[in-house]
Amino acid sequence: MEALKNRTGKIITTIVLVLVLLLAYLGWAVLREETPYYDSPADHFKYGSISTEQAEGVPLLIWEVLPRLFPEYLPRPGGYTALGMTWEKGKELPVGISRRRVLGMERQGITCAICHTATYRMRSQDSPVIVPTGPSSKFNSLGYLRFLEACAKDARFTSDYILPEIEYNHPLTLIDKVVYRVAIPITRKLILKQSQEFEWTKSRPTWGPGRIDPFNPVKFRMLDQPIDDTIGNSDMMPLWNQKLRSGFALHWDGLETSLTETVNTGALGDGATLKNIPIDDLQRVQKYIIEYEPPAYPLLIDDRLAQQGQPIFEQNCATCHAFGGNRTGTLIPQEEVGTDRHRLDMWTAAAAEAYNDFAKGYPFKFNNLRKTDGYLSVALDGLWLRAPYLHNGSVPTLEDLLAPPAQRPPVFYRGFDVLDSEKVGFVSQGDEAQYWGFKLDTSETGNSNQGHLYGTDLPSQDKTALIEYLKTL
Ligand code: HEC
Ligand code: HEC
Repeated sequence: MEALKNRTGKIITTIVLVLVLLLAYLGWAVLREETPYYDSPADHFKYGSISTEQAEGVPLLIWEVLPRLFPEYLPRPGGYTALGMTWEKGKELPVGISRRRVLGMERQGITCAICHTATYRMRSQDSPVIVPTGPSSKFNSLGYLRFLEACAKDARFTSDYILPEIEYNHPLTLIDKVVYRVAIPITRKLILKQSQEFEWTKSRPTWGPGRIDPFNPVKFRMLDQPIDDTIGNSDMMPLWNQKLRSGFALHWDGLETSLTETVNTGALGDGATLKNIPIDDLQRVQKYIIEYEPPAYPLLIDDRLAQQGQPIFEQNCATCHAFGGNRTGTLIPQEEVGTDRHRLDMWTAAAAEAYNDFAKGYPFKFNNLRKTDGYLSVALDGLWLRAPYLHNGSVPTLEDLLAPPAQRPPVFYRGFDVLDSEKVGFVSQGDEAQYWGFKLDTSETGNSNQGHLYGTDLPSQDKTALIEYLKTL
C-alpha cells in the first residue's frame, strides 16, 4: 500500500515537473526576443529594427512565401522588387526590411530605409546604385498594403496552403508547426484589420511609388482624429546632411521643428508603439543622418557652364535654397510659392495638439508639432537624385521645373530609376518608363504641378547654365 502511494506520488511529481519544464520551455520559446545588432551604422539604418515588427509586421516565413503563392496580386513579376523594394546583392532581405524574434517567431518589419533610400541606374539593365538616406522614388507603400490585403482576402490564405510552402524551404519543428498553424489565420485577420483601417485611401488619388500620405494614417489610426476628406500625398524627402539643416523646420510643411521628435514620430508612424519604441536605436539612426553626405553627380559636369550658372542661382534661388540663405529652411506661405495646397491642408491644428499630448506619461516627449501655412524652402543638396520634384512629386525633371507650368508635362511615369542626364531627373516618358513606372496625372486632386515660378522666365541659355550648376549641389 505504502509502496503504491510512494510510486503514485513519484509519478505525479514527475508529471508536474515535466509540465512545469514544458511550460517554462514554451514560455521561453514564446517570450524570447532576439533583435539582430548591426555594427555598421549603414546596415543599422538599412536593416536594424525600429520595433515595427510586432504591431504591423508579418511573420517572416509567411512574408517570404507570399509573392510565390500569390504572384497575380503583384503589378509585375519580380517578387517584392515589383513593389519597388531594393535588394542588395548577397542580402537575405530587401533594404528597409528588418527582422526580429518576438512572440515565438521571427517577424519582419519596415525601417526608415524603405522610404529613405534612393536608387539610380545609368541604363535599365544595370543593377541599381543604392544611396541610404536618399528619397526612394520606387517604393510603393500603398501598393504593398494592397498586395498584403489581396493575399489575405484570397480564400487560399490558410495554414494548409501556406505551411507546406514554408516547409519547402525551412525545416520546422513540431512546435514551430503548431505555432504557425495558429499564426497564419491570426496574420490573415490582422492584415484584414489593417487594410480596413486604410479603407479611406480607396476613395482618394493613389500614392504611387515614392509617395505616401504621411500623416493621414497617423491622424486617423493613432490620434483618433475624425476621418476627413483631405489628401496629403507627398514625396519622400532626403534625410542626409541633417547637420547642415540644424535649425530648419522639418517636413514639407514644417510641421515639426525638433529632429529627435521627427525621428521618433517616424518610427511611430511606421508601426512602433509608445511602449516599445527603441529610443537608443533611433538615436543611432539620427546620428547617421546628421553626418551622411549625399553623393556627387555621377556623370561629367561641364565646369565652365556650371560656373556660369552659379551667379544665376545666387540671384534667383539662393535666398530660399542655399545653406545660409535668409529664407532657407523656413516656411514660404503657400500663396507665395503657389504649389498644390492639399498636403498643407491635410495637417490640422487639432492633430498637432493631439500629437503633442500623445506621449504623456512616457519618458520621451512631443512638444514641437504645429500647424503652419506654408511649404519648406528645402536645401537642394543631392538634388540630381531627388526627382520627381516638389512636395507632391509632380514635376519630373529640373528642366521641367524651370519651364512655365503650362509647359510642364501633364502626365508622366514615375518610379523608374534610370537617370535622365539631359533634363536632370529620372527618365519619365517612353516604353520603359511606362513599363516600370506609375502614371502620374497632374490633373488629379493633389497632383497639381502649378506654382514655383522662380527662374521660369530666364533666357534659355541661363537655364542651361543654372541646371549645370544645380548638378554640383
Ligand atoms: C513609409 C515611408 C516612410 C518611412 C518608413 C519613414 N519616412 Fe520619414 N518621411 C517620409 C515622407 C514621405 C516624408 C515627407 C513627409 C511630408 O512632410 O509630407 C518624410 C520626412 C521625414 C523627415 C523630414 C526631413 C526634412 O528634412 O524635413 C525626417 C527627419 C524623417 N522623415 C525621418 C524618418 C525616420 C528617422 C524614419 C524611421 C524611424 C522615417 N522617416 C521613416 C516617408 C517615410
Ligand atoms: C521664395 C523662395 C524660393 C525661391 C526664390 C526659389 N524657391 Fe525653389 N522652392 C521653394 C519652396 C517653398 C519649395 C517647396 C515647394 C513645394 O514643394 O511645394 C521649393 C522647391 C524647390 C525644388 C524641389 C526640391 C525637391 O526636393 O523636390 C527645387 C528643385 C527648387 N525649388 C529649385 C529652385 C530654383 C532652381 C530656384 C531659382 C531659380 C528656386 N527654387 C527659387 C522656395 C523657393
